[in-house]
Amino acid sequence: MKTLRVGLIGAGQISYRHAAEINELSHAEVIAAADPNRERLEALGEEHRIARLYEKAEDLIADADLDAVSIAAPNAFHAPYALAALDAGKHVMLEKPFAMNYGEAQKVAERAEMTGKVLTVGMNQRFVPAVQTMKARIEEGDAGEIYHGKAFWLRRSGIPRLGTWFSQKELAGGGVLFDIGVHLLDLCLYLMDNFEPETVSGATYSKFGNRGLGEGGWGMSDRGEQVFDVDDFATAMIRLKGGATVTLDVSWAMHIDRPSRQNVELFGTEAGINALEGKLMRYGDAGEGFQVIEPPNVQVPGPQKNRFANWIGSIRGETEPLCTLPQALAVQRILDAIYESSITEREVRLGKE
Ligand SMILES: NC(=O)c1ccc[n+]([C@@H]2O[C@H](COP(=O)([O-])OP(=O)(O)OC[C@H]3O[C@@H](n4cnc5c(N)ncnc54)[C@H](O)[C@@H]3O)[C@@H](O)[C@H]2O)c1
Repeated sequence: MKTLRVGLIGAGQISYRHAAEINELSHAEVIAAADPNRERLEALGEEHRIARLYEKAEDLIADADLDAVSIAAPNAFHAPYALAALDAGKHVMLEKPFAMNYGEAQKVAERAEMTGKVLTVGMNQRFVPAVQTMKARIEEGDAGEIYHGKAFWLRRSGIPRLGTWFSQKELAGGGVLFDIGVHLLDLCLYLMDNFEPETVSGATYSKFGNRGLGEGGWGMSDRGEQVFDVDDFATAMIRLKGGATVTLDVSWAMHIDRPSRQNVELFGTEAGINALEGKLMRYGDAGEGFQVIEPPNVQVPGPQKNRFANWIGSIRGETEPLCTLPQALAVQRILDAIYESSITEREVRLGKE
């Protein structure tokens, strides 16, 4: 099969990783990019030798030589560009969050099914070797029945550049919950192999960005108006089908002892799992005492080396997307429910009555 020609939408910070990770694959190359900001567009083009540069994403989508597009524009453009790209017959790698809300995400998922093109949401943290190792151990039954997951990513000073689209609800849809909460929630449900929420209770806060505090510096977009109308801390409790529970805590800024703490910890009847450090904790056999085991990393199979390898491999029919559409939809539905619960101050019921 020929080399797949990919176009990037958005020439901001994460697009450098998209270009590098796609270009290192043997069956794909980035040949076009689009961004309304000419300076950033040319800088990305120069660094990754991308010849076709478009200021309008619509023109890139209309480029008949492209087989696929990778979308890394501000969140408000995810669904519209994904729909347009699918309609133009392109495969799509979509940055997280899936969309601005569940309704939009559903439309994109339906269109992907209809067109038969491969669309996946780039949940890159699933591909971390320690995560893959722990997933394999869980699938082998080492943890027993997992009854609770504790997912967190607490940053002390990690708000993307203040005044950029990240801080504006109109363009971002949400704050820390959409930015990093989505990763940890996805990772936790993936490891628990349960994307069936029953109830969601949550609260979101804005305590630092609204005071001009807590900036971390991620993001290349220009600062505009000093608007900050999104969350910088979110907490939630989710009950899953079958009775297991998940707690999620994510902050962009917070008074904490370290710059960042991030993990998914799982508690099972036979062992506990520390996902990002790749550890398994359990009582040993009689006389052995408590054990902390660090299994050697499993060899992640070729097409699943990273999200782009998985996506291109799926387009080529060699593998399946690791992040499936029903899974990505379930995550978006829970994120929406956390915001709803925060506003109504009530638990949101998602499962059957
Ligand atoms: N998977 C991850 O770990 C990860 C990490 C960072 C960002 N992201 C996601 O990637 C996306 C981009 O984030 P970033 O960090 O690169 O942001 P960024 O601010 O660095 O860059 C965004 C770029 O989008 C461009 N843009 C604005 N409007 C556009 C439009 N209509 N069409 C095309 N481009 C447009 C901007 O000019 C800018 O160059 C976001 O959805 C974000 O959530 C994912």
